[in-house]
Amino acid sequence: MAKVKTPVIVAIAVIITAIVVFGAAYYIFVLTKPPAKPQLRIGTSADYPPFEFIKEVDGRYVFAGFDVDLMNWICERIGYEPVWYDMPFESLIPALQSGKIDVIIAAMTITAEREKVVDFSIPYYNADQGILTLYERRAEFTSVEDINKTTIKVGVQTGTTGEAWATEHLVAEIVGYARVYDMLQALKAKHIDVAILDSPVARYYNATDPDLWLAFTVETGERYGIAVAEGNTELLNKINNALREAFESGYYDQLIEKWFGGTELPDPLVTNNAVGIIFPILMVPLIVVKRKK
Ligand code: ARG
Repeated sequence: MAKVKTPVIVAIAVIITAIVVFGAAYYIFVLTKPPAKPQLRIGTSADYPPFEFIKEVDGRYVFAGFDVDLMNWICERIGYEPVWYDMPFESLIPALQSGKIDVIIAAMTITAEREKVVDFSIPYYNADQGILTLYERRAEFTSVEDINKTTIKVGVQTGTTGEAWATEHLVAEIVGYARVYDMLQALKAKHIDVAILDSPVARYYNATDPDLWLAFTVETGERYGIAVAEGNTELLNKINNALREAFESGYYDQLIEKWFGGTELPDPLVTNNAVGIIFPILMVPLIVVKRKK
């Protein structure tokens, strides 16, 4: 029997070990890694707390809010990596139509007019319109009659249902703003007398900004939907299925609690007005009851 030399055995052992180690590494790091997810480009107008806004976290700016959580969750369910784009509300539908984004989630009301150019998901939230004024001017504005005057300046966000409502129902001067933040600055600077926006957002400002006051609401019975490009049925079906799952699984209720249960407001509830004082007091029994079970 020919004698195999020790260095040869060592060399073979080293080669085999190397193959096994590299093979295992290749298997762990390459083959078992999930394939990169396709990206979903999501457009919003991040000026609408608590639905969508930009907040600073450890020196970085991130999208936050009810819509942002909901859409990120939907992406997770349907296998997309969300990529968020912020733009003025009025630019969203054109961006969707020209293919710059794949979906819109922006507290956007499902309307017959918009239905002609985009496709909407099943509704996911109900809202009306709210009229904000300055806390110091709260006595001047208590009903629609108070703002239905030619001498009054009413701020609206351009391209919104608030703008449509104001144009249709008021003789007042309508002043359009691309961004809600600019509209509220104008209100504080007294360039306008009142600002119209969706009731949940108006309520949010009433509760968090001591200078602002929710004068009254007008019932418009709006429902929010997620929009996709016309004919993008495949994506729409996936979104609708995920939405139904969110409703049925309790995730939706969890989000409502997070963003509307009074726990996740960026600033403490300000108590310089009636709603601000009464709301937390009303919440106390609810919290106590919840803890008991
Ligand atoms: N719901 C209203 C509409 O659809 C206002 C939405 C404004 N959204 C926003 N993110 N600024 O016209």
